[in-house]
Amino acid sequence: MSQFLQISDVTKTFETPRGPYPAIQHCTLSVGQGEFVTLIGHSGCGKSTLLSIVAGLTHPTTGGVILDGKEVTSPGPDRGMVFQQHALLPWLSAHDNVLLAVEEVFPSLSRKDQKDRVMHFLDMVGLIEAAQKYPAELSGGMCQRVGIARALAMRPKVLLLDEPFGALDALTRGHLQDEVLRIWQKFGQTVLMVTHDVDEAILLSDRIALMTNGPGATIGEVVRVDLPRPRNRRVIVGMPAYHDLKVRILEFLYERYELVS
Ligand SMILES: Nc1ncnc2c1ncn2[C@@H]1O[C@H](COP(=O)(O)OP(=O)(O)O)[C@@H](O)[C@H]1O
Ligand SMILES: [Mg+2]
Repeated sequence: MSQFLQISDVTKTFETPRGPYPAIQHCTLSVGQGEFVTLIGHSGCGKSTLLSIVAGLTHPTTGGVILDGKEVTSPGPDRGMVFQQHALLPWLSAHDNVLLAVEEVFPSLSRKDQKDRVMHFLDMVGLIEAAQKYPAELSGGMCQRVGIARALAMRPKVLLLDEPFGALDALTRGHLQDEVLRIWQKFGQTVLMVTHDVDEAILLSDRIALMTNGPGATIGEVVRVDLPRPRNRRVIVGMPAYHDLKVRILEFLYERYELVS
């Protein structure tokens, strides 16, 4: 259970024109089935690098990742990825962007079942009305919703979110956080999310992995978020446990920040 997703001693050194750059070192983290785990750290520390190794888009220099008993060697539909900037195809409608993924993962479904599946997941993120619109006709928040619907429609074993709300205004960001929380609660979807927002991490996560700064960034501490669920942002901010957790995380990040500045 606790080993559903296992990141073991992962190190990544990039070859650059100025020589090798050790971005992350000895990163170890396990995520249980149905668990919501967040990676938090300063910009540039190596969060995306680690997530992209879990996605199979980047190969680790040493170490490895095992998902549900299988080593990750390449991208696959068992990992649904959502990026900070949406990765929708501009020439396809919201509906067809999701359909493309559904066709690929469920080729044997009838056309009708494929389309029903698309509408089911667009409905889940509140986008039924916008199904026939193209990405250029949608707001940033709506595009992220389509990306989330597309990732979920593939029925991934783990949802990988790389700062999915980072480019959105505060209000939209809050709505989408609530939506992800609701979907996670309903489906028991395993999630590994990257963020640099402490409040977002506390609101959503079961555990938060704190990353040190690079070069050679690693997971310094993993803290458990012992706040009752379902969580309501307005209620939890008033809890002493929320405050303590926030201080602990900020102290970790701030200390690390001072080391390099
Ligand atoms: N393909 C690459 N080649 C060289 N350096 C890279 C590459 N990708 C990332 N890096 C470097 O690795 C470090 C971590 O990057 P990244 O994982 O994107 O950080 P974060 O997502 O935490 O902001 C940064 O210093 C970045 O410049
Ligand atoms: Mg990043």
